[in-house]
Amino acid sequence: MRTKVAIIGAGPAGLLLGQLLHGYGIDNVILERQTGDYVLSRIRAGLLEEGTVALLDKVGAGARAHREGLVHHGLELAFGGSRHRIDLHGPTGKSVMIYGQTEVTLDLMNARKAAGLHSIYRAGDVTPHDFDTDHPRVTYVKDGVTHEIACDFIAGCDGFHGVSRASIKPEAIKTYERVYPFGWLGILSETPPVSPELIYVNHERGFALCTMRSMRRSRYYVQCPLDDDIEQWPDKRFWDELKSRLDERARDSLVTGPSIEKSIAPLRSFVAEPMRFGRMFLAGDASHIVPPTGAKGLNLAASDVHYLSSGLREYYDEKSSAGIDAYSAKALARVWKAVRFSWWMTSMLHKFPDQGEFGQRIQEAELDYLVSSKAASTSLVENYVGLPF
Ligand code: APR
Ligand code: PHB
Repeated sequence: MRTKVAIIGAGPAGLLLGQLLHGYGIDNVILERQTGDYVLSRIRAGLLEEGTVALLDKVGAGARAHREGLVHHGLELAFGGSRHRIDLHGPTGKSVMIYGQTEVTLDLMNARKAAGLHSIYRAGDVTPHDFDTDHPRVTYVKDGVTHEIACDFIAGCDGFHGVSRASIKPEAIKTYERVYPFGWLGILSETPPVSPELIYVNHERGFALCTMRSMRRSRYYVQCPLDDDIEQWPDKRFWDELKSRLDERARDSLVTGPSIEKSIAPLRSFVAEPMRFGRMFLAGDASHIVPPTGAKGLNLAASDVHYLSSGLREYYDEKSSAGIDAYSAKALARVWKAVRFSWWMTSMLHKFPDQGEFGQRIQEAELDYLVSSKAASTSLVENYVGLPF
């Protein structure tokens, strides 16, 4: 088989890239090691920047998000027992949309199917080859048979544990990492959200976040020790712990119910540089990871594939390699700003084992400054709604 761009990974990055390339008339094939149902079963964050929604619209996969997504013009910061609303729309004219990543992935899968594009699920042992030559190729095993795809370019959209970054010679790549000394214990419940907007909580017992998937389905997180086991967290313990971190008004209005999903996720910041290796590009989680505090993961995958698809369009339509040559630097410039913001939000809102009383006071001062200074809150807001692509 031959294609122009072989995409490894059918998560949001791979699927969105595939649709953007299709829109430019650039033939592409997606290779995914899991089944489509497995990909859809993953519970991930659910906050979209306007730029991400605009890309879904561009590829004709935004209609359900506009119907079912919740547009938010503000969020709340809770600390010292009270809540402070931060206006997102006033300073920026922008909003964010609450719409689950699972739904984004499903909408992109459906758009790809409707366009009759080639996706190979349950592709085993996917391996990129010769991407440092002009004739890259990808091999994979399906039903015991080894297949080869000749291509012009390979897009590694295979996430943090994928094969693409792992295929790069160690001397050709530099990584930066910070692992946080705690995790997020998340619960999904068919209960109405405690508040119409998100509440980010800094509490002496640890961080908490009240978010949602719809007005009938809530998502809550509490910071927990990294070595905690989900078995140690029956629903009642979760709800009691969450209540202990909420302000009185939220505690009184919290509707609890049985968990329909409950899991613990570690937090890390990670960036691999560069994002291009000859004729292979990395995009999304394959290249960078952010702690979910700033809800940037999916939105960075979107800006990566926006830059990459634009560069590939230039290559094929205008016979210019300027766009793909600039891809890595352009994507990393936005990635690092989001990595900084996500690290800053995480540092400000979580209880660190070694922070001590001085560290707690610094966090309180940072939060107090944020809610009392227009300049400080505008800085948070313009990063939260998403810096320009
Ligand atoms: N071969 C083929 N597919 C692979 C391989 C491989 N060797 N390794 C991983 N994959 C697939 C995974 O099964 C997954 O479906 O690549 C896909 C990567 O998708 P994501 O991990 O969702 O990464 P990405 O598309 O970059 O989306 C980033 O996902 O993890 C969240 O928080 C993150 O919201 C962000 C978003
Ligand atoms: C979520 O809805 O899962 C979510 C929202 C905002 C965040 C993190 C997670 O900052």
